[in-house]
Amino acid sequence: VQITYRSSDGAQRVVDVPIGTSLMQGAMTHGISGIVGECGGSAMCATCHVYLDPADQARVPAPNAVELEMLDSVADERKPNSRLSCQLIASPEMEGLVLHLPSRQV
Ligand code: FES
Repeated sequence: VQITYRSSDGAQRVVDVPIGTSLMQGAMTHGISGIVGECGGSAMCATCHVYLDPADQARVPAPNAVELEMLDSVADERKPNSRLSCQLIASPEMEGLVLHLPSRQV
């Protein structure tokens, strides 16, 4: 599915992330800076923090308890639309999703 990664300075990349792959992994594969993914995707590091576009929030599954707890540790401001991109697994419903990258991950 096509995912847009938009950095805090306004630059953006649109890449194809295979269904079943996390949006953190999709960023890694395409060398998108702004997502670190230090723990490899196990919801343990909070360096894959992203902000969902408000228009997209309803078509992404809600965070589980582990993700919600880890979101307390993000480096940039935590907002209601904050998510860990390693916990967002690409599905057909996410086609065209826009992720806003925080200004820092550590
Ligand atoms: Fe570590 Fe997502 S990659 S919490």
